[in-house]
Amino acid sequence: MMRYAHIVGWGCYLPERTVTNAELSQLVDTSDEWIYQRTGIRSRHIAATNETTATLAFEAAARALKIADLHPSQVELIIVATSTPEYMFPSTACKVQDYLGAGRAGAFDLSAACSGFVYALQMATQSIATGSVRNAVVIGSETMSRVIDWQDRSTCVLFGDGAGAVVLKGSSIPGGVMATTLRSDGSGADLLSLPALYHNPVPISGAEFSSNGHHKNIIDMDGRQVYRFATNVIATSVMDVLKQAELTIDDIDLIIPHQANTRIIEAAAKKLKVPMEKFYLNVENNGNTSAASIPLALCDAVRDGRLRPDDNVVFVGFGGGLTWAASVVKWDVTPPPVSFGDQEWKRIRYMMARGRSRMRRWQRRVEAAIAHPSARRKDDID
Ligand code: UT7
Repeated sequence: MMRYAHIVGWGCYLPERTVTNAELSQLVDTSDEWIYQRTGIRSRHIAATNETTATLAFEAAARALKIADLHPSQVELIIVATSTPEYMFPSTACKVQDYLGAGRAGAFDLSAACSGFVYALQMATQSIATGSVRNAVVIGSETMSRVIDWQDRSTCVLFGDGAGAVVLKGSSIPGGVMATTLRSDGSGADLLSLPALYHNPVPISGAEFSSNGHHKNIIDMDGRQVYRFATNVIATSVMDVLKQAELTIDDIDLIIPHQANTRIIEAAAKKLKVPMEKFYLNVENNGNTSAASIPLALCDAVRDGRLRPDDNVVFVGFGGGLTWAASVVKWDVTPPPVSFGDQEWKRIRYMMARGRSRMRRWQRRVEAAIAHPSARRKDDID
């Protein structure tokens, strides 16, 4: 029985374009000093017009599969945690499944805002623990730049785009994701929200506001209240998950929190009575990338040598919903070396998978045209 879900691969993708605080100060009444002092952010990545949450997620997943040395055809489950899907359906995960050519995978999106990655990790872990799948790709991917009011200085300086992914594999060897706590409090839903486009009470009117009074499809946040909430729940959820794993804070080598604000983490570190060095932070270069922030920080932590085999790491997320969640993971892998030839061959495989997908799409069109020659066909969505 493969009860334990081990992280065997990880990968990240950040759009090439960075936007500095100085650049933002030309857009709204702000300054590098204000942003850095209040948040710890210096710059963030912004997706190019031809990039989507799904293409970012694909890049991260392909890198994670490469490290895991798992062929896409072997993948059994893909979960994308995101608050910025291109479509309500098809899910971002289905697009990733198609881009990867993961022909045997189930795929779905998960909505839990900035806690989404930890929620998704738990769903995948449980699927492995019950034996329903042998492996899973868990992705956090966001294009926050598309849901920001770029005239609102209180939010536009905070967010960024990016994606991070991990590959989980079942094993009978104890380790991997050891314990997780998921929590929510919908009474705080209005503190941090992103109304859906269809949520329009006055159809065909071009109305500017949705029924909750917010601008449509734009993030709305009560910064001070969310700040207070975040500093409290980081400490409590870390303690809760440690209790569940029967560990103490001294057993933990690294805490990777959702990267929203350095001051929030400093306050949480004080509450937990641990030094800041126990936390990994990369908010300075990425800003708040919502569900992508924890796996993005994980990639950087591995790159920086902050995680070694047998280390215990805690992931802790918090955000809209309100939601919060924490996982304890035994880090038990050393990445195998990947040769250049290997990388090229994998890139070719993805191109072939896309070719096959396009062929299937054409085949469907031809079959539909033969079956209903007079019917007007709606163009494919991509
Ligand atoms: O991922 C989801 C979780 N989200 C979070 O964790 C965010 C939590 N909240 C925060 O991190 C902080 O509340 C913020 C960074 C968003 C704001 O920091 P703050 O210290 O709470 O500032 P504030 O909202 O209390 O605003 C203080 C002042 C205000 O001016 P007045 O009213 O004192 O004159 C704001 O208008 O700062 C002003 N302000 C700015 N000034 C320059 C707000 N945004 C800006 C800005 N540049 N970008």
